[in-house]
Formats: sequence, C-alpha cells, structure tokens
Amino acid sequence: MSPRPRRTRIAVLTGGGDAPGLNAVLRAVVKAAFHRGYEVLGVEDGFEGFFDRTSIRPLELDDVRGILQTGGTILRTSNRGDPFSFPKERDGEFVREDRSDEVVARVEGLGIDALVVIGGDGSLGIAHRLSLKGVPVVGIPKTIDNDVGGTDVTFGFNTACQTAVNAIDRLHTTAASHQRVMVIEVMGRNSGWIALKAGASGGGDVILIPEIPFRIEEVCRKIRDREARGALFSLVVAAEGAYPEGGEKVRVVDAERSATGFERLGGIGSVVAAQIEERLRIESRVTILGHVQRGGSPTTRDRMLGTRLGVGAVDLVEAGHFGHMVGLRCERITHVPLEEALARPKRVDPDGEEVRAVEAIGVSFGR
Ligand code: F6P
Repeated sequence: MSPRPRRTRIAVLTGGGDAPGLNAVLRAVVKAAFHRGYEVLGVEDGFEGFFDRTSIRPLELDDVRGILQTGGTILRTSNRGDPFSFPKERDGEFVREDRSDEVVARVEGLGIDALVVIGGDGSLGIAHRLSLKGVPVVGIPKTIDNDVGGTDVTFGFNTACQTAVNAIDRLHTTAASHQRVMVIEVMGRNSGWIALKAGASGGGDVILIPEIPFRIEEVCRKIRDREARGALFSLVVAAEGAYPEGGEKVRVVDAERSATGFERLGGIGSVVAAQIEERLRIESRVTILGHVQRGGSPTTRDRMLGTRLGVGAVDLVEAGHFGHMVGLRCERITHVPLEEALARPKRVDPDGEEVRAVEAIGVSFGR
C-alpha cells in the first residue's frame, strides 16, 4: 500500500499593529484550509514566533470557533521581530542583526508549504524579502491606516473609522454645549485616511492630514468664519501625522530610541489646540483617540472583507501564486505581486475627488 500523500501545510502569522478583523481572517484561513484538506500552523507573536520553539502550534477548527466578532488576534502580534533587523540588547544598547536565515531554515524544517503573512507595509515588506530568499509567501493586507498599496481598502479601516465617527459625534454635542473648539487626534502616521473619512462623516470643520501640510492661519480663519456666521464651536480632526507647512511631525519617541525601530507620533492635536486658543482666544480642548481605534468588534464590512481575503489567500496557496498579496479592487478579490503593492503605498490624493468634495461643502484642510 502506498503511503498517504502529505497534506499541504500552511503557516499563518499576524504582524505589526493589530486591527479589527484579524480574527475573522484567521478563522477564514483555517476553515478554507480545512475544507481543502490542508493543515494550518499558527505562528504566535508575529515573526518573533519563529525564534521561539513553543510559539508555533496547530490551528484547528476548535481554535477559531467564536472569534469572528472579537477584536485583537488570537495569535498575538508584534512589531519588534523583524528577522532582517532583529533587535538584541548589548551593553544596554539595541543592536540589530540579520536572523532571516533562521526563519528560512525553520520554515523548511517544519515542512511549511506556504506562509501566510497578515500585516501592514512593515510585515508585508518582511514577507517580500523572505520570498526573495525562497520562502513561499502569501500576503494579506491589514492596517487601520488603510495605506497599503495594491488594494482599494484594508480590513480594520472601516471599524477604526466607525469608532472615530462615534467619538466625533459625542464630542460634537459637548463642543456645541460649551461653545468650544474640540480637536480630535486620530491615528494615521503617513496617511490621513481615517482623519479624512471619519472627519468628513462626523461633520468636522477642519481636517488635517499628512498629505496636506496645513497653515494655522487657515485653520483659524475657518473657525473665525464659522463664528461670524453664528456657529460658536468648531471640530478639528487631525491625523497624528499631520504637520504644518515647513514644520515637522510631532514625535513622542524617535525611531532610534524606540524598540520597534519606528518613530512614535502623537501630540499634534495639543499643538493645534494651543495655537487656536492663543490666536483666537476661544477655549480649545483635545481628545487623542489613540489605540481605542484599534480595538473592538469588527464592523460587518471588516468581517466580510476579512473572510474574503482569508479565503483568497488560501486560493493563492492552492494556485501556487507565491510572492503575491490578496487585495480588493472594485469590490472583487484580486492579487498583486508584493513588490508592486509595496512600491506604491496608498496616500490621500490632495487633489482627488474625495478631498475636493469635502472642500466643496466648506471643510478646511488648512491650505
Ligand atoms: O499602523 C497603524 C498604527 O495604528 C498607526 O496609525 C500608529 O502610528 C501606529 O500603528 C502605532 O503603533 P504602536 O501601537 O506600535 O505604537
């Protein structure tokens, strides 16, 4: 009797910042794989899991039961374990070393036929570099920032926007009651998608995004104009990566000093509020939404998108389309080479139809 053929073995990991819908994707990958007779291994803590003997475990149907509606990721995540620049502490300093060959060896040693990486540009960049070393990789784009190229939208973004809109709605009534300026700082390191969509949908009067450096005089002019027309309060929605013309982003921690290797942003909202108060003498308050935007139960759209992308990734494995990423184009699941997706990160077009439409109803981008 000939031995039973070995089952296709997929490993899956979640890397970088978490986003609502990650568990929906994991559930879809495990279920779609199960129905094709494949095995799935879950790598815990992002790429860091490859360096820990106990962090890679089988993912069965039981493991993904009841997780569709939950935020976070059952595999946990990390943005500290880039195998090409792995941090190591030496004499109290962070030094970085290339440990990517260990990942390649582990993938081979475990008989992994496909590695599905669910991540943003950082994790997908690592996936691409691993694929150049021969690892059969498939990417799934994830980030609340919505800035990954090669897809019209990333899962997590819709939920983050809804969370931000809910917050803006609440701030609206208190702003009106007190006749104050409310500045709401939302996430968006390099792209202003959340600020744009949530700001416009929440009725923001001023929206500040990294793609359009702002002038504080213009921000103040908009608030004054409203006041002149009897609106004694205003809402300013600022992406954390927004910055004034000729100025810089506001950093909490520089890239060199952060464990992740990325600069940590935050505080532009407070800067803008202080300047408005000083120039206009209108009481101005700040709310920084922060990681609230990353948590919580995914919206219907993100559950559905996550499910479709998870299934799409298993389809790519079956078709042997490695080095590719699944994505959504014109409401259809497609795929693109990772290299192509990474080459063109998705930014808000300062002259695009969406920005123009929002400006046409009187919202100021501070330009
Ligand atoms: O990339 C998503 C994101 O939420 C950014 O908007 C933000 O700058 C960053 O992650 C924060 O990351 P961390 O949780 O590691 O500070």
